[in-house]
Amino acid sequence: MSDSDGPGTLASADRLEAQLARELTPTTELRTRLKEAREALVALATRKAQEGGIPLRTAMVCGSVARETYLPGNHDMDLFLLFDPALPAPELERQGLALAFRILDSPEKRYAQHPYLRGRFQGFAVDAVPGYRVERGDRPLTAVDRTPFHQEYLAARLDERLRSEIRLLKRFLRGIGVYGAETRTEGFSGYLQELLVLRHGGFRPLLQEASRWRIPQRLAPEGPEPSFQEDAALVLADPVDPHRNVSSAVSRRSLATFILASAEYLRAPAREFFYPPSRPPPTPEDRERELSRRGSAVAGLSFPTPELVDDILYPQLRKAQRALAASLQRVGFGVLGTASAKGDDHCIILVETTTVQVSPVHVQEGPPVGLEHAHRFLEKWSGTGPPILQGPYITPEGRLQVEVPRTLRDLPDVIRSELPQLSVGRDLRDPVLRHGKVLDWEAIRTDAVASVALQELWGKSLPWRPLSPPGPPGNSDVEEDGPETQPQE
Ligand code: UTP
Ligand code: MN
Repeated sequence: MSDSDGPGTLASADRLEAQLARELTPTTELRTRLKEAREALVALATRKAQEGGIPLRTAMVCGSVARETYLPGNHDMDLFLLFDPALPAPELERQGLALAFRILDSPEKRYAQHPYLRGRFQGFAVDAVPGYRVERGDRPLTAVDRTPFHQEYLAARLDERLRSEIRLLKRFLRGIGVYGAETRTEGFSGYLQELLVLRHGGFRPLLQEASRWRIPQRLAPEGPEPSFQEDAALVLADPVDPHRNVSSAVSRRSLATFILASAEYLRAPAREFFYPPSRPPPTPEDRERELSRRGSAVAGLSFPTPELVDDILYPQLRKAQRALAASLQRVGFGVLGTASAKGDDHCIILVETTTVQVSPVHVQEGPPVGLEHAHRFLEKWSGTGPPILQGPYITPEGRLQVEVPRTLRDLPDVIRSELPQLSVGRDLRDPVLRHGKVLDWEAIRTDAVASVALQELWGKSLPWRPLSPPGPPGNSDVEEDGPETQPQE
């Protein structure tokens, strides 16, 4: 189709991918050390369980380390400690963690859906996760019970070439910013990536398919079609549990990023997709210039960081962003965007509006006529009470309405007055509604956490493309970039 689809492009992709594959292949020395550590870790867990009378059924290392599909430097071991399904859940947790404590150096309790232990063994980082040894096909009792079946499924199907192709895909998705199923990223889990490479036979064949995907994209399962109720952007049945969508975490944005990056890479393969050009962090002066270039207003909220795991916190931060945007829109602000960031002691939510002040006219909606409320509304707005600009009058829809002057017009003032009614998630009610503080631009400019949120607000880009240098303000609103518009060189 296009000129760049010629053999030149493919040859350069071959060269680039071969070079990257070499760089991403773990050294024989590392592989040997990891293999020995894996075996020693399982042996130690088994022995310590016997000594301590802990009813462990199996210990196994799963995940990318067991399959040699990890990225360099990313070889945390996932150790699964599997117990009899008859063991009650609190016992599983207690016995599993007790065992993990005995085998890991510098253990530290962490939380995902369930508590697990992060520690070290023979110098490697280890996540020790308690779970149930269920039979394949049985209903999993915890989120991790399928993991051993993932391990069996992939280990039986991957060879050296596919492992290398998986590492390429992981590096590609890392580069374009969609690696990881955490709610913060809403991207592709390592396991999903392995399945995708396996399904399409390699990195490039997968990209060729992905470049033609539409959202939502359904990838036909191998067996009979299970029904997924979820409104997912991407659907791929887990081969070890066909009722679970392996890609339920992938957001529309992450999927769209992968689709576009695949198409763009096939047109012009480049290292930048795998290792995006670095972007120097903007200085406070850059921020000041950026704000005046945009001619907009930015304000926000700061509140104490709640004790929540990231997977719970990030969706709630996004919900609070949407609530803030909606309430400012109701007041009459034009909202350009919102962003948030988590710091160790406080979180920030930012909002950018088209103007610093909202309109001086406040439209106060009243009830439809014919209700008792209608008379009360008229009494309230009788002319002897609060000042009125116009009305009360009846709208084309048959409601009462009155227009009054707005006293609080500055963005931070309006946020302060809206704050108590903000509809935030349960875990943020206390931190935001009771302890939230409104930040003006001066406070935002000098806050380190706010600077991360500003990066989300103003740093949007396609990671593989160089940043466009800031041009002179004010001549770009002439042309609309519709789908037909050709990019200008
Ligand atoms: P990891 O998140 O460590 O993934 O989960 P990974 O496959 O080792 O890949 P990377 O290289 O670290 O990114 C370990 C295993 O736990 C299961 C999968 O079987 C995965 O291989 N798992 C993890 C899930 O089933 N679902 C998840 O959301 C996460
Ligand atoms: Mn892992």
